[in-house]
Amino acid sequence: MKFKIAPSILSADRSNLQEEVNQIEPYSDLIHIDIMDGKFVPPITFQAEEIKKLKTKLEKDVHLMVIDPEKSFIPNFIDAGADIITIHSEACKDIPKTIALIRSKGVKVGLSINPPTPLSMIKPYLNDIDMVLIMSVNPGYAGQKFIPEVLTKIRELRKLKPNLDIEIDGGINKGTITEAVKAGANIIVAGSSIFNNPDRKQAIEDLKKAIKK
Ligand code: DX5
Ligand code: ZN
Repeated sequence: MKFKIAPSILSADRSNLQEEVNQIEPYSDLIHIDIMDGKFVPPITFQAEEIKKLKTKLEKDVHLMVIDPEKSFIPNFIDAGADIITIHSEACKDIPKTIALIRSKGVKVGLSINPPTPLSMIKPYLNDIDMVLIMSVNPGYAGQKFIPEVLTKIRELRKLKPNLDIEIDGGINKGTITEAVKAGANIIVAGSSIFNNPDRKQAIEDLKKAIKK
């Protein structure tokens, strides 16, 4: 399976976002964009207009940590050029309807679960989505500690679905990435471990090296 690196711009310098994206672009596969509503998680992050303005060849991987995403966030981020939209199973009233809404716009669908949420919550939808996002921290903030217990869910999911994209998000660095890919994750989100290093190329190379360990 191809491994993909998805830097999370939550940890980037927001006043200089385009330049930050330009720096990671040559070494990355997707750009991970965390959207929060102040309700599902306390912070509020990027506005759709800011994301629409970003010029990049990378796929825009939009992670919606918001309640009732179908109301405004999904249409707004489709308009902002999202290639993948991930919704949280815990935040959606009607999961099949929301998946169908995203699909109907020709955008890929991801479904996410928080660390305490069991895999059974998303099992009914695995044939209708393009990606599962397994959170390896409780969502809301960058720079938190990796929760290794989520690896059990990744192992089980990889067995069930050998070809499904499994994204892991939270606490990924050159120490934790190895066990994440061994468990079966193939799309790797990393925020602080990339953007807290002034040498972004080196930071991403370190992650890629650790994948092969
Ligand atoms: C957390 C976000 C993550 C965050 C990861 O709620 O979903 O994408 O940016 O940051 P790190 O890699 O620093 O844990
Ligand atoms: Zn995220």
